[in-house]
Amino acid sequence: MDNSQYVKWFRHSSPYINAHRGKTFVLMLEGDAIADDNFAHIIQDIALLNSLGVRLVIVHGARPQIDQALNVLNIKSQFHGDLRVTDQAALNAVRAAIGIVKSDIEARLSFGLPNTPMHGARIRVVSGNFVTAKPKGVINGVDFQHTGEVRRIDRQAIGKQLDQGNIVLLSSCGYSPSGQMFNLAAEDVATQAAISLRAEKLILMGEDSGLPATQGQAESDDGVISQITSHELSSLIESLSGEHKMHAQASLAAVQAGIQRVHLLSHKIDGALLQELFTHEGAGTLITGGDYEQLRQANIDDVGGILELLTPLEEQGVLVRRSREMLETEINRFKVIERDGIIIACAALYPYSAELAELACVAVSSEYRSGQRGDRLLNAISAQAKTENKNKIFVLTTRTAHWFMERGFSEADLSALPKERQSLYNFQRNSKIFIKELD
Ligand SMILES: CC(C)(COP(=O)(O)OP(=O)(O)OC[C@H]1O[C@@H](n2cnc3c(N)ncnc32)[C@H](O)[C@@H]1OP(=O)(O)O)[C@@H](O)C(=O)NCCC(=O)NCCS
Repeated sequence: MDNSQYVKWFRHSSPYINAHRGKTFVLMLEGDAIADDNFAHIIQDIALLNSLGVRLVIVHGARPQIDQALNVLNIKSQFHGDLRVTDQAALNAVRAAIGIVKSDIEARLSFGLPNTPMHGARIRVVSGNFVTAKPKGVINGVDFQHTGEVRRIDRQAIGKQLDQGNIVLLSSCGYSPSGQMFNLAAEDVATQAAISLRAEKLILMGEDSGLPATQGQAESDDGVISQITSHELSSLIESLSGEHKMHAQASLAAVQAGIQRVHLLSHKIDGALLQELFTHEGAGTLITGGDYEQLRQANIDDVGGILELLTPLEEQGVLVRRSREMLETEINRFKVIERDGIIIACAALYPYSAELAELACVAVSSEYRSGQRGDRLLNAISAQAKTENKNKIFVLTTRTAHWFMERGFSEADLSALPKERQSLYNFQRNSKIFIKELD
């Protein structure tokens, strides 16, 4: 990376740094992650997040390590469905494996990270009896014994540790008030911790970079769904299996309980965590709680809804009048945000010269303003312009100049517009012209 690229990259990550500071993230690492070569990089990235003021709770699993310990002791586990029956002998293996993984993570976080960019970072990691468990019980006649599920998370105790800048480490086990230990699924601990702490994000790291894309889904270069709502995910879940299914189920439970964002990432990819948290493109699958709200391409059925949204703004003179016929012919230029079947926001993109396109008709219904829907539309329209190989977008506005300036637009003269757009300029309206370079 040359210096100018570096400077650009660093500047672009600063909004994310500000957004994440003081926020609580629950990060789950499978047992395989700890055994992976990339784990040293994950530790560095955890240290960096901690130093940027992110409140971090790490939840670790230990499935492969438990399997290994059982093998050594020559114990064959019984499974019913995906669930292990943890009898007393197996519990000893679980206890040993979890203890080793936990102390391994603590040791790695205590190591001064020499020869890394985080050299000298002092990290305090705290663990304890923060998870109360209960037995799974008897299901279809099978007693799962020491296999349990989360009963309660000690939110206050964890919160106090996070307030002091400590990282909290939770294992995939918990204790009952009667003093028994239970073997828990790391996904269950992570999800319940995120819900209890009202975390901003739950991040589940596994083998794969997220969920595989099928036709019609927004996908990244490596064939992974880049973003999906929990509503869309619930209709997809039956087609998933293995880790994908377990992570999807945990994500749905989290989102349905109010966690706004769940990220599925690969522990095998160097920097996946940073790429997901500090770049627009991300590195895995983002599951959002936007059940009732969806940003999408407009279609002909939306014309009525768009007219209802625009008419009051046209009457106030904020937007230029557009007829129903005009909207019908130009509908494919529009993006809308739909909530509960109602169009609550829209924006349009009109390509002009080879490099320029006009952003027009940006409107958010008055009841829904200041919820960053304008920003979401601007991002979607900018991404669309980039896919059409435009490198600048312009906008004409009479009353919203500062909103655009605060989002990187600069005022320009009429001469900056393409000739055909100049000839349409309405001098009576006297709109200001703003241009933004797309990066
Ligand atoms: C401009 C508009 C699209 C922003 O949508 P939004 O979803 O409310 O925007 P965001 O949540 O992303 O941003 C909200 C911020 O923009 C500010 N803002 C809203 N209208 C503004 C205006 N006319 N001038 C300057 N800032 C404005 C809000 O005060 C808020 O700032 P704050 O967070 O510092 O309080 C919306 O206010 C709207 O529909 N306005 C009427 C139509 C319009 O003017 N369209 C542009 C025509 S070119």
